[in-house]
Amino acid sequence: MRIDVIAVIPELLEGPFSHSILKRAQKRGLLEVHVHDLRAFGLGKHQQIDDYAYGGEAGMVMKPEPVFDCVESLKSQRDYDEIIFMTPDGRRYNQPLANRLSLHQNLILLCGHYKGLDERVREHLITMEISIGDYVLSGGELAAAVVVDSIGRLIPGVLNDETSALTDSFQDDLLAPPVYTRPAEFRGWKVPDILRSGDFPKIEKWREDQAFKRTRERRPDLLED
Ligand code: 6GU
Repeated sequence: MRIDVIAVIPELLEGPFSHSILKRAQKRGLLEVHVHDLRAFGLGKHQQIDDYAYGGEAGMVMKPEPVFDCVESLKSQRDYDEIIFMTPDGRRYNQPLANRLSLHQNLILLCGHYKGLDERVREHLITMEISIGDYVLSGGELAAAVVVDSIGRLIPGVLNDETSALTDSFQDDLLAPPVYTRPAEFRGWKVPDILRSGDFPKIEKWREDQAFKRTRERRPDLLED
């Protein structure tokens, strides 16, 4: 899978993909992440990428030409499954959407900035708009990093058995149960006996019960449908 991220501040994306699971995914040739500086497609000698809003609205708007030029140069090299605009007014990101996106071959993530993106780009170039939650970030770069991370770890062969995505919180609409490691007793607090019993059917039942209990207490909305 290949993900092209178009950024206004590409420096924000230097760290997140160079470590741990995403690094391994790229080393194994399962994931390619390419970050592009939108300003390279800016207009004039100042490489302008934003401009005043028509109608007197406060705040700058991302201009259409640099975005079209950048996306079209990518599209001339390969077909893209989705051209995604990262914006707080997009559809709310969740695990089912991550699962669906992880099945694609080529994605573009365009990071929003300033007061917004010229509506004509959204109408005629963008195929999906994503928000990572109901709060406002200064730009779409950190949100794009979240999306790349969550997709990357779902690509077959990226995770090992012990990091399997199948037992993640949300993967079955339940939060994950509590986990423990050694020592068996720490400052007088004991690991539940059941987990040390070796009775695996019972342990599985305990985990399930705990997952339900935790979900009921913390996220009852997940159990509604
Ligand atoms: Cl995708 N962008 C920005 N700027 N803020 C957000 C967001 C995206 N998702 C939640 N907040």
